[in-house]
Amino acid sequence: MNILVTGGAGYIGSHVVKILLNQGHQVVTLDNLQKGYKEAVTGGKFIEADLADQKLLNEIMQKNEIEAVIHLAADSLVGESMEKPGKYYRNNFANGINLLEAMVKNEVKNIVFSSTAAVYGEPDEIPIKENNKTEPTSTYGESKLFFEKALRRYDDVYGIKYTSLRYFNAAGADPEAKIGEAHDPETHLIPIVLQTALGIRDKIYIFGDDYSTRDGSCIRDYIHVSDLAAAHLLAVEALASGRESAVYNLGNGEGYSVKEVIKTVKEITGKDFEVEVSDRRAGDPAVLIASSEKIQKELDWQPEFPELEKIISTAWQWHKSGGFGE
Ligand code: UFG
Repeated sequence: MNILVTGGAGYIGSHVVKILLNQGHQVVTLDNLQKGYKEAVTGGKFIEADLADQKLLNEIMQKNEIEAVIHLAADSLVGESMEKPGKYYRNNFANGINLLEAMVKNEVKNIVFSSTAAVYGEPDEIPIKENNKTEPTSTYGESKLFFEKALRRYDDVYGIKYTSLRYFNAAGADPEAKIGEAHDPETHLIPIVLQTALGIRDKIYIFGDDYSTRDGSCIRDYIHVSDLAAAHLLAVEALASGRESAVYNLGNGEGYSVKEVIKTVKEITGKDFEVEVSDRRAGDPAVLIASSEKIQKELDWQPEFPELEKIISTAWQWHKSGGFGE
């Protein structure tokens, strides 16, 4: 298939591109390189462009005879989204509409969308299921939820079929250690703890240890980025073979606390470092754990690296090897 991957130079996108290429698909990666790294794109065609340019999107789809889109391009910092809501509504929602309009024009009928657990907000029950209430507590989560709603409309009106993948906490790196997680600024727990183990940071701060969890720190469901990428491949191939639109959670169904993550990093790296408890971070739910039963059942998705140790050790291999010039 000829597949357009937006945001394919980013952390998750680059892993998606790699798995599509391995399966023999023709990939066109579009990325504005604001957060992505060109060297993370392991093959196919690369176009440096922004989703704001609808004319260019039309041209790209037409010229490359695009048959399906995997849409990952987005801003994804919860904190920033509360300070600059316009940036999130524009880039994650409005620019996404440009993409859908270009799909309509070029009769591209299938899209896999990179959504997030942040669409749920503070959950009523754990593990979270796809039909639980969606009341995002951040502009980021809301901008992603708005796009999910638009997808439903474009399906009704134009018959564009979509699979929305609601990721929980993506982590880890390709086991061949050529691509990995490198955000600037980095805000995610596992890379920050690994950078502390490497001595790039003085200490790690635990954002609150007074939550009602087993050790007081927040619990998250970490999913290996290669397992996430594999789900995109299953989803796009299922759409191509006529499957209906659907929404799926992607996690491991197992939660680990911030303190457990830090302990595991210390064990795996053999490094000791300073840990300090600081204030809670605004907007952090205490516990986020996914039920991924639906995608396991319907698309036969099975995680290859569900263990936290494996997730952290693949990330460690990549960080140790220098990452993208850390
Ligand atoms: N944390 C720390 N110290 C740090 C960094 C993080 O204690 O230096 C804590 C956070 O408070 C949180 C946990 O580690 O409790 C995980 O934090 P991350 O920033 O790694 O991930 P989040 O759970 O906040 O966010 C992730 C994605 C978002 C997505 C969200 C959905 O980054 O894009 O999951 O649940 F919206």
